[in-house]
Amino acid sequence: MKLWSGRFRKETDALVNDFNASIHFDQRLYKEDITGSLAHAKMLGDCGIISAQDAAAIQNGLLSILEDIESGKVEFSADNEDIHLNIEALLTARIGDAGKRLHTARSRNDQVALDFRMYVRDQIPTLIRQLLGLESVLCRQAKQYQSAVMPGYTHLQRAQPISFAHHLMAYAQMFSRDVTRLEDCKKRMNECPLGCGALAGTTYPIDRKATASALGFYAPMSNTLDGVSDRDYALELMGALSILMMHLSRFSEEVILWCSWEFKFIELDDAYATGSSIMPQKKNPDVAELVRGKTGRVYGDLMSLLTTMKALPLAYNKDMQEDKEPVFDAIDTVTQCLPVFTAMLDTMTVRTDHMRKAAALGFINATDCADYLTKKGMPFRDAYTATGHLVALCTTQGKTLEELTLAELQTVSPLFSEDVYEALKLENCMALRDSFGGPALRETSRQIEAVEAFIQAHAN
Ligand code: ARG
Repeated sequence: MKLWSGRFRKETDALVNDFNASIHFDQRLYKEDITGSLAHAKMLGDCGIISAQDAAAIQNGLLSILEDIESGKVEFSADNEDIHLNIEALLTARIGDAGKRLHTARSRNDQVALDFRMYVRDQIPTLIRQLLGLESVLCRQAKQYQSAVMPGYTHLQRAQPISFAHHLMAYAQMFSRDVTRLEDCKKRMNECPLGCGALAGTTYPIDRKATASALGFYAPMSNTLDGVSDRDYALELMGALSILMMHLSRFSEEVILWCSWEFKFIELDDAYATGSSIMPQKKNPDVAELVRGKTGRVYGDLMSLLTTMKALPLAYNKDMQEDKEPVFDAIDTVTQCLPVFTAMLDTMTVRTDHMRKAAALGFINATDCADYLTKKGMPFRDAYTATGHLVALCTTQGKTLEELTLAELQTVSPLFSEDVYEALKLENCMALRDSFGGPALRETSRQIEAVEAFIQAHAN
């Protein structure tokens, strides 16, 4: 018999029973549900709403249920719809009437709002830890490759010389922002919905501040309708996870390119690559491709809940039961991607020789050539045009800028002298880019140190 069957004259249709149930996915919230109930029961006892004996019986009953769930002794049932009703039914079966008093001054809307919020909140430290782990691998790799010249790209065309360290530290910055985005949303979500009731609070003299602080929240939520009916915190988390996955996906795309024969900037460790069923020579970057692929899945999770919530009138609607699966999926996906991606980067071999070779072709020192003329007094725009003419000359002759003779260089400007060859050396071009945030050694060292300090400061 249903816990809520009082006003009904018929059994629930079997199809409806299954359709309505969420136990097959919300059983994941068992610990949060029991933790919330423990705090609620204690508060009811402390406020004299139920007797001290009942409060104690509830507490013991809930703890024994927790133990049994964790040792795999409990079978949940779709007849009890969701995790909240399943646990309440188990409790009453174990302790009798005291169990029936637990739901005083509380609603399931309360419970689901609380359990889900605590679950989402408590996943964030793991996500942050994983991101910091990734950042520390980036720092370690960057330290090794601060003087490894590689072409920096725009439009996927070779553009200007940077170091591999500079490229890696760009991603470290993005992941640092992902960390602070997660911290921000954790802070904002850390208000307690328990005590909002079904939607309109309660007539009992409950102490919402006590339950909020017992459950690690800094305050109870201010409005009971809001408390039971918004899911913005879950959306915010999925927004942050979508951005994080976008960063991972761009990085994955580069790993895939870098592994190709066209680039060969890196080689993945055999343990982090896969073979082909037919082509014996293949070594595929499946991990990076899957991370890129799973990015779409996390975006889909976000879009799914945004769409569910759109246009729902206040307060709770059953539509909101659809909130959990996408959020669980997004969290599971990201927590699976981060460690494997990190290990893949940690074990890769960097082919600085191939990077250097790629940097030599493509005129990535053309800006430096124009800067050379500018520093000798020519207006930059004219220097730019003169260098453009030299690039055209090189293209017809199959040469690089530094392979032109001084006489050839002087056909576009008499300002060229012997020292131009030093100015065109890629190592110098890179080393001289020492403006704040640039690829010069001093600057990449500063960036690495700053990220290392960030990792220390945000470790949890
Ligand atoms: N299983 C429900 C959910 O996940 C719990 C809340 C049910 N509340 C209700 N009034 N039907 O949303």
